[in-house]
Amino acid sequence: MILALINNKGGVGKTTTAVNLAAAYARAGCKTLLADLDSQGSASLHLGVREGGPTQVPNLDVCLGFPENTRDYQHVFLDCPPALSPLTSQALELCDRFLVPLQPQYLAMEGLANLLRFVENPSRWLGIVLTMVDGRARVTHEIIALLRQRFGDKVFQTEIKNNVRLSEAASFGQSIFEYDSRCPGAKLYAQLKEEVDQKCRVLAV
Ligand SMILES: Nc1ncnc2c1ncn2[C@@H]1O[C@H](COP(=O)(O)OP(=O)(O)O)[C@@H](O)[C@H]1O
Ligand SMILES: [Mg+2]
Repeated sequence: MILALINNKGGVGKTTTAVNLAAAYARAGCKTLLADLDSQGSASLHLGVREGGPTQVPNLDVCLGFPENTRDYQHVFLDCPPALSPLTSQALELCDRFLVPLQPQYLAMEGLANLLRFVENPSRWLGIVLTMVDGRARVTHEIIALLRQRFGDKVFQTEIKNNVRLSEAASFGQSIFEYDSRCPGAKLYAQLKEEVDQKCRVLAV
């Protein structure tokens, strides 16, 4: 499966989700490739590799730009740049499914509408993953309720809460599973992987 992570906003958790979801699949024994499509190379840096190639995570490789071939991999994740650019269009064309990581804030709803207008193949849309969720703010719960009302089961049940361990892991060049496999962020990304699997199975029927 080729899964793209798309949002035209930056800093919403695309790279963090791409890295840790890819690592969750690799840990489950799947040959996995993470394609770093952002010229800033944050996905590669997050995994401690500059030029692409194997990572510290068994079964997980990284490449810079679009992969030349995906034959050797069971799963390929495309970490997109924060723009509705030709590169993002290309990723949308190449992928089997795409995910939208979304931070539950008011402006995000508007951005989401633009994003969905940009998409030519809405049937490939796997759903919205709520990221950097600040459970202490009442407004967060209100926005999540609105999103669930509007988009129903497109919104994943798993909500990726704010967890400083996730940003620490990035600065150590590790996935959350190497850095601290018992922290809440690791548990949430492991749970997200299960939910992605489940959604893909349902859609495949
Ligand atoms: N759930 C989270 N909790 C705490 N920090 C997070 C979380 N998700 C992402 N971050 C941090 O927020 C910043 C932006 O995340 P990133 O994944 O790079 O976003 P994007 O790829 O959309 O620009 C990074 O510093 C990252 O470490
Ligand atoms: Mg990024």
